Order: sequence, then C-alpha cells, then structure tokens
Amino acid sequence: METTVDRTLLRELMTREEDRFVMDHPLSEELFERGKANLLAGVPMPWMSEWAGPFPVFVAEAEGARFTDVDGRTYVDLCLGDTGAMTGHAPKEAVAAIAEQAAKGITLMLPSEDSIWVGQEMQRRFGLPYWQFCLTATDANRFTLRLARAITGRPKVLVYSWCYHGSVDETIVTVENGRAGARPGNIGPAVDPTLTTRVVEFNDVPALEEALAHEDVACVLAEPALTNIGIVPPDPGYHDALRELTRRYGTYLVIDETHTICAGPGGATKAWSLRPDFLTIGKPLASGVPAACYGMSVEVADRVNGFMGTLPTTDVGGVGGTLSGNALSLAAMRATLENVLTEEAFERMIALGERWANGVKDAIDRHGLPWTIQRIGARAEYWFTRTTPRTGGEAAAADDHELARFTHLYALNRGILLTPFHNMALMSPATTEEDVDAHSEVFDEMCKELTA
Ligand SMILES: Cc1ncc(COP(=O)(O)O)c(C=O)c1O
Repeated sequence: METTVDRTLLRELMTREEDRFVMDHPLSEELFERGKANLLAGVPMPWMSEWAGPFPVFVAEAEGARFTDVDGRTYVDLCLGDTGAMTGHAPKEAVAAIAEQAAKGITLMLPSEDSIWVGQEMQRRFGLPYWQFCLTATDANRFTLRLARAITGRPKVLVYSWCYHGSVDETIVTVENGRAGARPGNIGPAVDPTLTTRVVEFNDVPALEEALAHEDVACVLAEPALTNIGIVPPDPGYHDALRELTRRYGTYLVIDETHTICAGPGGATKAWSLRPDFLTIGKPLASGVPAACYGMSVEVADRVNGFMGTLPTTDVGGVGGTLSGNALSLAAMRATLENVLTEEAFERMIALGERWANGVKDAIDRHGLPWTIQRIGARAEYWFTRTTPRTGGEAAAADDHELARFTHLYALNRGILLTPFHNMALMSPATTEEDVDAHSEVFDEMCKELTA
C-alpha cells in the first residue's frame, strides 16, 4: 500500500520542530541578529540563510565528520560543506602540510615543485595528461569554456537543463517544452543565455543530436550524473552516445567531476570509463583550501599551446587569477591526494554510502512510503518519488520543498546535518558506521511520525 504524507500533520510537526530548534540554539540566533547589522540577510552569502530552521546554526569548530555549534551542540556532518569538506574537516595530514607551507610562503606568482607532483597524480587518476590550476570549480569551468571556444572558433556551449557548474554565466539556463531561457533566479545575466548556450535535457539523445548538428557548439559541459538537482543517473549507454555524437559533430566533451569524485579516486571518469577531452574539478581537492584544476588531452593541449603562443599577453585574456596555482593550495592538494582521499579511504567511504542507502531504504519500505534512493559511491540521496527522475526537468518538478525542509530540520534537531536543498548525504574518510546508523535511526523515527 502506498502511504502519502498528510500535509496537516506535516505542518504540525514542522511547527514543533521549529520551536525546538529555536529553544536549542539561543547563541546562533543572537549571532544571526547581530550579523544583520553588516551582512546582507545576516549571513556571509545568501544561500547560508536558506537552511531549514528560522536561522542558520553558527559553527564553533569542526573535526573529522563532526562539528560543534556555538550553543555547544555536536552534529554528524553529512553535508561536508557540500563536498568542500569531503575529506572530513581539518584532516591531520593536510593540516600539517598546510601549516608547513603557510609558514614558508603562500603565494608568489611562481611555480612550486608540488605542482609537478599534483599534475602527475591527476593524470594517474583521471587519464588526461595536461593540467592547469585555479581556485574554484567555477573558474575551472569558465576557463575551459573559453579555451574550447577559442580553439574551435565556435560561439556556443551546451549544458543540461537544471545543471549546476558554479556561477558560470553560460550555464544558468533551462529548457521547458522545447523553449530555452534563463533559469528562474538567474541574477543580472549579462546577455540572454540562449545566445551563448544550447540546452537539452539529460538522457535525451535525440535532443542532444539535434543541438549538436548545428555545428556551432564548442563543447558540452556535463556532470557524469546530474548531482545538483538531486542525483539523476545516466541511462545505460547514454555516455557512449554523448561521446559518439560530440566526436561526430566536432564538439569537445568537458566532464565536471567536482561532485562525482564521490564515485572513486578517479571519479566517474575512471569508474565508468569516460573519455573526456577536458576534465574540471574543485571543492575537496585541497581539504577545503581553495583549489581547483582543469585537465586536457594531448590534442587539446597542442591546440591551446598553438594559439596561446600567438597572444600578446596571457594574463589578461579571461583565463587567469592572481592567486591561481598558489603554493599553499598546491601543497594542500598534494597532501590531500597523497594522504587523505586515497584508494583505501574511498573503499571505506563507498561502503558507508551503501550502508547509509540501505538504512534509508529499509525505513522507506518499513513505513510504506512511495520514495526511492539513488547512490553514486560515497554520495546518496532519497527522492520523494517512487522512481528516480531521468532528467533535470523531471527532477525539478519532483521537488517537495515543504517536506524537504521538514526532513532537514528533523535531522538537524537530532544532531545530523544533511546537504541543503537536497536529501543528500556524503561520506568522508572520517565518517563511521555509528554516524551512519545514527542517521538510519533518526530517519526511521521520522518516517514513523510522518505515517502515524
Ligand atoms: C558539479 C559542480 N561544478 C562546479 C561547482 C562550482 O564549485 P564552486 O562553487 O566551488 O566554484 C559546483 C558547486 O556546487 C558543482 O556542484
């Protein structure tokens, strides 16, 4: 029998949880009120006010898979800075390397030896031979789009509807009923993004072919699975079609591994045998120190070197960043890749991801809820739908904001932080089976209340 959630009951429970949250967090509330004097909406960035409670929890300190708030409450962190802290917070090996490098110089506009080690390691993990370093995945994507346009001479890029690749102008676009347009909430776009971008639904091979056949698309920028509108996995054979069509129409393929690194040490590229021309990644690479990179094939690198050599300057052409490739972020990347996000760590993290997903599935089945779960390695997420959406559009339509706010607040009030805007959990090398089981228990209790 299918059990649906009674909305009157849901609202009653939500009021109870909000009251509990306010009672439990007097110091966070006080800081939030003080912050309003100088910070827009009382927080450093607007999305920090969008947590499920009436105000965000202010953090005192974090270590491993846990953090403590200013009111002295400790949480199991399954959000992990939305992957920025996938390494666990303050991993000892990285912190030591960061402290050592900070004392020896942070940024110089000169290369350090660590860059050579990291370049080799990126090739070992992802297969592409040539690498460049910057500070955010957004910049890695922005620079890659520029390079792809420059070497193909084509004006457009292609992305999936409801994708997210950071604050990259060309990507904040959706398509609905065949009509493309700025994504709802796109803030002050410089130009109509349909001038720069073709947009199709994920898993729609005919639409992809139709878009590429115009032969004006420099590159497709793709996550291996959508992860930012919930986890939307590729259909069997989709990546083969994507690779075949991009080759047929002379379009480069950029794979953004920023979130799908959760699939294993070489991300989904290695785990699913993808063959991109460019690869971008940021967030957890340096244990939370800003660091990102973009890699490319020999053929791409030859073409990039060809035109870079003809430019009057290479520092003001739209691919840059004074702090890009700085000594601190390279030292942190090296320590992270060498000692934190290791093969053994991934084995444990992926097993924990499976345990987490099983705990959720058991509770869903036990309480007869029409929900499902998706997992990519160390990252898993439950959907309030019977089957997983196949496209970004379906995923956006499946969003149940009211219910999601409740599930987040319910977990938070019981010491568990989920990734906001989704029902997503990520495992770090420091996460334990007890942490996972704590979530399973809380989730089960919540399902029981919702179906009472
Ligand atoms: C797949 C993907 N690419 C790129 C980014 C941008 O990362 P950043 O905000 O660190 O630049 C994100 C951020 O969520 C992401 O999920």
